[in-house]
Amino acid sequence: MDKIIIFDTTLRDGEQAPGASLNKKEKLEIAEQLVHLGVDVIEAGFPIASKGDFDAVKLVASKIKGVTICGLARSLKKDIDAAYGAVKVAKSNARIHVFLATSKIHMRYKLKKAENEILRLATEAVRYAKKKVKDVQFSPEDASRSDPKFLYRIIERVINEGATTINIPDTVGYADPQEFGSLIRGIKENVLNIDKAIIAVHCHNDLGLAVANSLSAVKNGARQVECTINGIGERAGNASMEEIIMAVKTRKDIFANITSSIKTKEIHKTSRLVSRLTGFVVAPNKAIVGLNAFRHESGIHQDGILKERRTYEIIRPQDVGFMESGIVLGKHSGRHAFSARLKSLGIKLSQKELNSAFEKFKVLADKKKTVYDEDLFSIVEEEIKITPKVWQLVDFQVNCGTGIIPQVKIRLKSKGKFYTRKSSGDGPVDACYKAIEKIVGIKARLLDYHIDSVTSGKDALGEVSVKMISKGKSVVGRGASTDIIEASVKAYIEAINKIKEGIRQ
Ligand code: KIV
Ligand code: ZN
Repeated sequence: MDKIIIFDTTLRDGEQAPGASLNKKEKLEIAEQLVHLGVDVIEAGFPIASKGDFDAVKLVASKIKGVTICGLARSLKKDIDAAYGAVKVAKSNARIHVFLATSKIHMRYKLKKAENEILRLATEAVRYAKKKVKDVQFSPEDASRSDPKFLYRIIERVINEGATTINIPDTVGYADPQEFGSLIRGIKENVLNIDKAIIAVHCHNDLGLAVANSLSAVKNGARQVECTINGIGERAGNASMEEIIMAVKTRKDIFANITSSIKTKEIHKTSRLVSRLTGFVVAPNKAIVGLNAFRHESGIHQDGILKERRTYEIIRPQDVGFMESGIVLGKHSGRHAFSARLKSLGIKLSQKELNSAFEKFKVLADKKKTVYDEDLFSIVEEEIKITPKVWQLVDFQVNCGTGIIPQVKIRLKSKGKFYTRKSSGDGPVDACYKAIEKIVGIKARLLDYHIDSVTSGKDALGEVSVKMISKGKSVVGRGASTDIIEASVKAYIEAINKIKEGIRQ
């Protein structure tokens, strides 16, 4: 069996997605879940990019054990020093990922350098990185648009300098699967010392081909795949990890000898976490992790599924962590049933969190006839939020309707003191947000507001996600309730608390 190394770049390329910004605690929370998921390498960030990025990579490198922690660097000493400074606490698990563009268009217009100069810079950078860590990865950026002969030369040189992984990026998502597979095969066949390194691939999704290109590369000899959860990343994103893993697992006939260490039952939970913390909503029709990925609407399909599941289902939802959709709990369920269900969903809570989550469950079960697993995830996520609750909602009243200006009175609590304000607005949510702003005195701009229903039905929980920007930093807040105004208020307060936390750091 051949194992593919799963290199997760959600915290680096994923975080480069426009509007996705994670603070260091959020990065650590995602990294912890990535370990549960079973990834081999976590690219935790680009340490030279900012102090925040440096600190986040260092935090992940110091807390996360048992996987390789990687920091990205351009082929410059100062970048390599920063990457080393951030990952060195991971000791033998530290990796430095050096990159330099090799395509004509990048060399000519971006770098303004000739091939020989690029060769020199790449070899010097890898040599320098190798003095610091034994695990050095090199990426010829825009490899899929580079001259293959030049690629062979540069790859051979950097391997001679000690690069142990050679990553071939399709930086702008331009490649076609067959062509990309041939490129990998060409590297395997033409680079003399290629047996001293692992071939990796890193595909972007500009033409929607990132997963197809990655799989074609695996068929042609790549043994590390770089990917992100939910496929987030620059522009149209990166190859989605869950799709690659499930394609390899589902098509055993094609990928006969390929395995990975991913625990697929953790996929759904990881996807939800990344979506919640980045504020990037997963499209309902997204393969593997979308809400509709395992729903069958048409009568013919439902009939087929009832007769034999495999007629219309190629993956069992449970295998990727979706639970059987059925009634799980209701208002008569007790604490024991509640905690047993959480346990079977793989959710671990402290006694205090469990007590508080159970209270919330009881309130919800009184409003909703049936409480589904998705509702439980939502309740629990509220409990385990890592943001300090500087401001908390006490209560609010809204008066709105056709032809009247919405009016709201809202009461918040902070450090034991109560604060009440009234406001009007364009709508009830706007009025609430204005009243909250009057209380907390923070100037922030609302970039995005999103509402989703957690399950179906009139009594479903509404989940609101807001993205706000204050002093150039964007934060995401999330709130859930059967009352969508309350969910909107909770989401706004969580974002405000994150801004407050950022100010204190
Ligand atoms: O897309 C790309 O080329 C990259 C490199 C830094 C690997 O992200
Ligand atoms: Zn990339």
